[in-house]
Formats: sequence, structure tokens, C-alpha cells
Amino acid sequence: MNPSDALVIFGFTGDLAGKKIFPALYAMVKKGELKVPIIGVASSKWSSDQLHRRVRESVERECGIDDKCAFDRMISLLRYVSGDYRSPETFTAIKAALGNAQRPAHYLAIPPGLFATVIGSIGAAGLAHNARLIVEKPFGRDLASAIELNAIAHSVFPESSIFRIDHYLGKEAIMNILYFRFANSFLEPIWNRNHVASVQVTLAEDFGIGQRGAFYETAGCLRDVIQNHLFQIVALLAMEPPAYQGYGAVHTAKASVFRAMRPLSADDVVRGQYAGYRQEKDVAADSDVETFCAVRLHIDSWRWAGVPWCLRSGKMLPYTLAEVLVQLSPPPQKLFDDSHPTDARANYVRFRLQPASAIALAARVKRPGKEFTGDQRELYLCENAASEESPYERLLGDAMAGDGALFTSQDAVEAAWAAVQPVLEHHHPALVYQPGTWGPKAADALIAGHVGWHNPEPERAAGALGPVR
Ligand code: BG6
Repeated sequence: MNPSDALVIFGFTGDLAGKKIFPALYAMVKKGELKVPIIGVASSKWSSDQLHRRVRESVERECGIDDKCAFDRMISLLRYVSGDYRSPETFTAIKAALGNAQRPAHYLAIPPGLFATVIGSIGAAGLAHNARLIVEKPFGRDLASAIELNAIAHSVFPESSIFRIDHYLGKEAIMNILYFRFANSFLEPIWNRNHVASVQVTLAEDFGIGQRGAFYETAGCLRDVIQNHLFQIVALLAMEPPAYQGYGAVHTAKASVFRAMRPLSADDVVRGQYAGYRQEKDVAADSDVETFCAVRLHIDSWRWAGVPWCLRSGKMLPYTLAEVLVQLSPPPQKLFDDSHPTDARANYVRFRLQPASAIALAARVKRPGKEFTGDQRELYLCENAASEESPYERLLGDAMAGDGALFTSQDAVEAAWAAVQPVLEHHHPALVYQPGTWGPKAADALIAGHVGWHNPEPERAAGALGPVR
């Protein structure tokens, strides 16, 4: 697999480029991992000076410039093409900017509505030969559009040259789910419907949609993070052991999880909208778009039959963090007299995914004294600071090297859309919730009969954190 010898980034003046891509490029140049021309493409008519200023401001803001030489090297790699994505001249100009490059990687960091046009034009301009296509999520906005997009991408690129980015797959804590599950043998005997009572995944953000109103109005929480980021986490938690060493086997096992997901119905989903959302920039005054979504999912497989998977994400929640709680079944018989209400939860495995990562196992131990009563205590298995390498750095480097391990496959994307498709068409209206709360009360009903939602709190030092209530 020859590495790409140029990186073409469509959407160079966009939000994602400013927040994630420039800092990633800077880090890659700093480490000596990126030495090829970077061709930025966007419709804004910017001068080189304007562009360089924007790149500098963004890198300074997001991560700081601690290596001026590296930053200057990055600027020297930059070329900029401004033009309309619908116009063939834009692609002629890209071809000229590519110069002698033979194997460009084309990265689409643009609104999904433009994917088809740009992919078609890349092909028509003869820029697809030996090239790679990196596509930012969301890949499609429903099952039909994902199928159509896959067909368009395949009309120009083979599947092995298509890299669909879900940046959650480039996060250290999420890669560790796969490792933790299959590098250990103690987990496998209990990792099934016989011992797991329920699984919860929470991805909470304490901020609103900011300047992204126009995008968010076309997406909503279900499309923005549940169908992709949260489903990817579910797939890693729920998949069967890969049949052999190699990522092909991981892709196959993950795709089987998406296929086994029972299509969601309106009653499996609670949609919420934070008070004040309709007053945000570029948001319709009568918008029903959800900024919070709670989902009760079933995976109809031998391993997971009957186990509810409760997923939840939202903007303007109390904290910014992500956590998985795998709730184990209680012992079959109550032998001790310690049913203190706050200690009612049985053992669990907890994965803190961000901001820092941690894995903790909770088990009950006896309190000293005559009574046979105890407490749930957490055994910390790992506790890491946030990773040095950003997901975008990792994923862009992998895609340019032709390593598809951390990307999603066509069948997985389509199967994930198939699971959410019914609720894209029929759902209950979004319920208003107050910023700083855990979303609409109605979400509690989704998980009624089980232990209730676990509302994660910012992690304290290992050992200082009491058990999950
Ligand atoms: C993006 C969504 O894919 O993921 C955003 O579009 C969301 O709405 C973001 O905020 C969360 O990513 P992270 O890495 O900041 O948790």
C-alpha cells in the first residue's frame, strides 16, 4: 500500500477544518509524519495571507504553536484552490495544484449534500486514479441516501480506497474497549445475557449548538451522534470475538451487531430540545429538531437477547463527558441484609471514555463490624489522561497510509441506518428540557424496570470516587 503523496481537503474554511483538521495537520507535520502537499479547497475567495492567518489562529486557539519551525513547514506545504464545487474549473485548478502528485487522498470535510457532486467531479477530472477518498460523517442522512452515496463513491473508488471517518474510532479509550474485551479472558464468560442486565452509554455535552445551527437543523442528535459515534461504541461492546487476527474480522463482527439491532420504533426513542434552541442562529422558529436523544435498543442475537441497551446524548447537559456502564445481574439470592437504597446497584463495569479514560470494576465488600453489610467499591483497572494523539491525527495518518482498520465499512453504515430508519420517519415530538439538566423526564420511562439512568459525574482521583449510584 503506497502512501498518499498529496492531501486534498474540501471544506478548508469550514468549522471542522478550523477546530480539528488544522491542529491535526500541525501535529502530523511536527512529528515528521506529513511532508506532502496539502491542497485546501473551498468556495471562499481568500488570499494566501487570509488563509495563513486563519490557520494560525485556529492552531493557536486549539492547541497552541509550540514549534514555530513545524508551523512554518506546514504553511509551506499549503496550497489553496477557491472555487465552486459544482464547477469543472475548480477541479482543473485542483489538478494543477496537485502538480506531480500521483496518489492524492481526497478528504471531504463538506456538508453531506455536496458529497455526490464532489465525488463525481473528482472522477470526471481524472483525479481518482490511485487515489483515496476520505469521507466525513454523517455518511448519508438515512438508509436510502447512504445506499445512494455508497453507489456514487463506488462508481469512482473501490471500497478499499474509501475511508469513512467516525472520529470516535480514533479515540484511545474507544480502541481500548476492543482491546480490553479480547485481550482478557475473565470477561467473556459474563459478557452476555446471562450476566449482563443492561448497558448504558451516555455522551453528554454541556454546551449548545453554537454556530452550527444550519448543519444541526438538517441533522439532530440521532443523526449527529447516535447512529454513528454511539452505535460504534455499542458495536465494540457487543460484537462477537473476531474470528482471526486482523481488522477484516473486526469489521465483519461489528457489522453483524448492526444487522442484529432491532429497528427502533417511536416508543424506543425520547427526543428533547433545550429551551432556547429555537432562538439560536440559523434555527427555525418552530424547529422540532432534537438536541437530546435517548434510545432503548435491542440486539437480537444469541448473546444479547433480552438485554436493553440504553443510549443517551444531548447538548446543554450538566457535564461534557462520555461513559459506558455495563450493569451486571444481581446475585440470584439475597443472603445479606444490606439493601441500603443508594447501594441497590449490582456489580458493574464502567468505561469512562472522555474527557480522560478509565475502566473500573465495581464489587461489593463487607464493611468492618458485626453486621453482614457492605459497600460497592470500584477497582480501577486503568486511568489515563486524555491521549496526546488526537483522533483526527490518527485517522488522517491511517487513511493516507491506506490502513482501513479504524474506518467504517459500507455494510456497517447501511445496517446502522437500517436500525434507525423507522424513527427518522415516525417519531414523537421533541420535548423541551432546561439547560443544565439530564434532558426530558420522559427519558426515565425508557429505562423503567431496570436500574434507571446513571448520571455520570466528572471523574475524581482513583479511589476517591464512590460507587455509581
Ligand atoms: C461530532 C458532532 O461528530 O461529534 C458534534 O457533530 C459533537 O455535534 C462531536 O459535539 C463530539 O465529539 P467529541 O470528540 O468532542 O466528543
